[in-house]
Amino acid sequence: METIVSGARPTGRLHLGHLHGALKNWIRLQENYRCYFFVADWHALTTDYATPQGIGQSTIEMVMDWLSVGLDPARSVLFRQSRVKEHAELHLIYSMITPVPWLERNPTYKEQIKELTGKDLSTYGFLGYPVLQAADITIYKANKVPVGVDQAPHVELTREIVRRFNQLYRSIFPEPEVLLTETQKLPGLDGRKMSKSYGNAVFLSDPPAEIDRKLSRMMTDPARVKRTDPGEPEKCPAFQLHKIYCTPEEIEFVSTGCRTAGIGCLECKKVMIKHVIEDLAPFREKRAQLEKRPEVVEEVLQAGHQAAQKKASETMSEVRETLGL
Ligand code: TRP
Ligand code: SF4
Repeated sequence: METIVSGARPTGRLHLGHLHGALKNWIRLQENYRCYFFVADWHALTTDYATPQGIGQSTIEMVMDWLSVGLDPARSVLFRQSRVKEHAELHLIYSMITPVPWLERNPTYKEQIKELTGKDLSTYGFLGYPVLQAADITIYKANKVPVGVDQAPHVELTREIVRRFNQLYRSIFPEPEVLLTETQKLPGLDGRKMSKSYGNAVFLSDPPAEIDRKLSRMMTDPARVKRTDPGEPEKCPAFQLHKIYCTPEEIEFVSTGCRTAGIGCLECKKVMIKHVIEDLAPFREKRAQLEKRPEVVEEVLQAGHQAAQKKASETMSEVRETLGL
């Protein structure tokens, strides 16, 4: 069985964008691969080093959502990055062989430095972000890494580091491949990409009334100002959700109704809202159980830690031996 590794920074409660991005994909992959999925809490520190207090709570919230949505600790190894110290040791070794210009020309690095202007990111750790990621991936000898397109340069860098290691010393690491996650760029309530920081997200753990309230106010085709104005579903952010959640008959019904001004936007959205709420029902049930027994999350992470640590320490023994340390 091939091995898959992926991680996510602890962002707290997850939303529909996460569900239709990484999560559904991960849930599918655990059927056919040996999967390691971890909370990248050290990576969170690279940008949030000044405010680390929230990371612990965000980790628990995120893992609770992981379990509620169907990541299965009986199939996948779920753990916290910061508990498996071997990641840090391999990161250190890789830092010796990674030329600084490889890191400086990384497009994600350049973009984030420009975007996150409120933070001083001229740190050693932030530049080395992809080196740590290379350690995360290769310490489990991953064959494939499911990530969004923004992370592809990091996996490419991992491959370069692996090639250099294998050439300099001995070939012990497979070159991991990117498994590009087809993200249906899920629009948020205001039509921009769904993101917690934009305040436009529908959280998986929102109660039904809250989901209804949020989606009832979701942005529609801006050309449909009055009820009598015809609209175009393809220009409507809410309709992106119809495409995911509604039956072909319903999609046909609302599209025609929209283009002929035969239905109003609220009526149209109610057709979709009903499905979103229903679809999340099993999730809510599982999450309610976990909220009553939060110690289960800790237990899962502890068991995952042991499995991860076992594999990671085997790899590190091999690395030390290879280097004659
Ligand atoms: N950098 C990734 C992100 O921001 C998280 C991450 C850390 C990761 N280590 C990883 C993803 C290893 C895949 C494999 O989403
Ligand atoms: Fe969007 Fe439906 Fe309104 Fe058309 S009728 S603009 S598809 S919400």
